[in-house]
Amino acid sequence: MGELEPRWMGRAMVFLLIIWGVHGWGKEGHFIICKIAEEYLTEDALTAIKALLPDTAEGDLAPVCYWADEIKHHYHYRWSSPLHYVDTPDFRCNYKYCRDCHDSHGHKDRCVTGAIYNYTKQLESSSYASDSLGLKYNLTEALMFLSHFVGDVHQPLHVGFVGDKGGNTIKVRWYRRKTNLHHVWDTMIIESAMKTFYNKDIDEMIQSIQSNITDDWLVDVPSWENCNATVCPDTYASESVKVACKFAYRNATPGSTLGDDYFLSRMPVVEKRLAQSGVRLAVILNQIFASHPSIAKE
Ligand code: ADE
Ligand code: ZN
Ligand code: ZN
Repeated sequence: MGELEPRWMGRAMVFLLIIWGVHGWGKEGHFIICKIAEEYLTEDALTAIKALLPDTAEGDLAPVCYWADEIKHHYHYRWSSPLHYVDTPDFRCNYKYCRDCHDSHGHKDRCVTGAIYNYTKQLESSSYASDSLGLKYNLTEALMFLSHFVGDVHQPLHVGFVGDKGGNTIKVRWYRRKTNLHHVWDTMIIESAMKTFYNKDIDEMIQSIQSNITDDWLVDVPSWENCNATVCPDTYASESVKVACKFAYRNATPGSTLGDDYFLSRMPVVEKRLAQSGVRLAVILNQIFASHPSIAKE
């Protein structure tokens, strides 16, 4: 690249900030997911969530859904870095909690699905119990972590192969830009979609994704999932690695240039994962924060 004109400098800065700062859906992806989730929250859930959100959120969940990526490199939160993904052995297109959910030192449960179970339990036990149990955990952080990790587990390459770190070490070009396959799925497909189809307007993109969600999505969620618990992260992870094999890794070998063919065939997949993630997050939060009248009476 030659010398940058001033008008490109701003864009380059934003671009660099995006690649340095991120390992989850990018900021936009998490924002879209949480905006979609907010549309499906019940009054009970909205009330509980507003009470837990930090003041900076001004009562809105979406602006804090990216928080977990912002803090994961801070000294106090470095322990949380392995909680954003779960990798499978190389070229295995299936996921198994017992085999795959551990960090790079082999500590069990330290992965994105383990984290989703953990933060769901924290929020659930505190919403059933009296204030004293609530004090045991930081429920504001639990809510922000859970909302973020439900997004991450739907990013197909957050359930990718261990050898290439979910596509992070696969160098590719996105049109003319040098990047890596993981970043294409976190950020570039969404960015290109926004520019090409939605007037660079995130609200237009959110509306379009929402228009493809029908009410049966909400009713049918438990049956899609073959899981009756409050949260089914193993189902989401299994889907993700299958999508990673079928769409993310396919035709994206190291050194390849990804352009229109890849973009146009993968964009609907990304939009579906964002939609599923948003709807599921809402269903999870609605269940966690449903009022418990029988317990309240005791
Ligand atoms: N680091 C190692 N594997 C990863 C993955 N699948 N996603 C993000 N970061 C990772
Ligand atoms: Zn993340
Ligand atoms: Zn990522």
